Amino acid sequence: MVSDRAPAGGDSWRRQGWDQRYRQAEPGSAAAVLADNLHLLPPRGRALDLACGLGSNAMLLAGAGLETEAWDYSPVALERLMERARRQGLAITPRERDVEQHPPPAVSFDVIVVAHFLHRPTAPDLFRALRPGGVLFYQTWSRARVSDAGPSNPAFRLAEGELLTLFAGLRPLLYREEGDQGDTTQGLRDVACLVARKPA
Ligand SMILES: C[S@@+](CC[C@H](N)C(=O)[O-])C[C@H]1O[C@@H](n2cnc3c(N)ncnc32)[C@H](O)[C@@H]1O
Repeated sequence: MVSDRAPAGGDSWRRQGWDQRYRQAEPGSAAAVLADNLHLLPPRGRALDLACGLGSNAMLLAGAGLETEAWDYSPVALERLMERARRQGLAITPRERDVEQHPPPAVSFDVIVVAHFLHRPTAPDLFRALRPGGVLFYQTWSRARVSDAGPSNPAFRLAEGELLTLFAGLRPLLYREEGDQGDTTQGLRDVACLVARKPA
């Protein structure tokens, strides 16, 4: 596995916390922003699942025929993802990497998926990392919520419309943030979703 592991520092206890969690956790479903919009993927190209965890999004990307990389700083998550990928015959390149310190290089991916991860200073790097015509799929927790799911610290949740602001240089194909509108027993709640394309 390729590794760009940062030297142990202030964030290492947090990474160890994720490792600990991933020793037990079962992989969840892929993010709705990707699973429900597979028709917006290009037919080929390079895709990145950033802060992939157990990599359900990477599995979908690889299954859709994209040359897929999965980046996370938890080696446990990446090992478990690779076991699953091998069992399903999917080719995924894992990279153990602190994506805050080492975001993807400019013009490197046709698709970037980010789910349940928010590091605002990285947004301009993600914009630059998309190739012209490339597509970003982003889904994470919103401050507008109807349940206790997700982080309690509002700093780790999106303000209303924030994904549109963070990625204002991209052309939105889809934006969804339902808040507490209407029948809250239905719909996709507690998160905001953006699919957006970099102008060619
Ligand atoms: C809530 S999980 C989301 C995992 C996956 N994207 C999903 O939706 O199931 C957040 C992930 O971000 C990873 N992560 C947090 N900070 C990171 C960093 N600085 N560099 C790389 N990965 C990081 C954690 O290891 C964890 O896998």
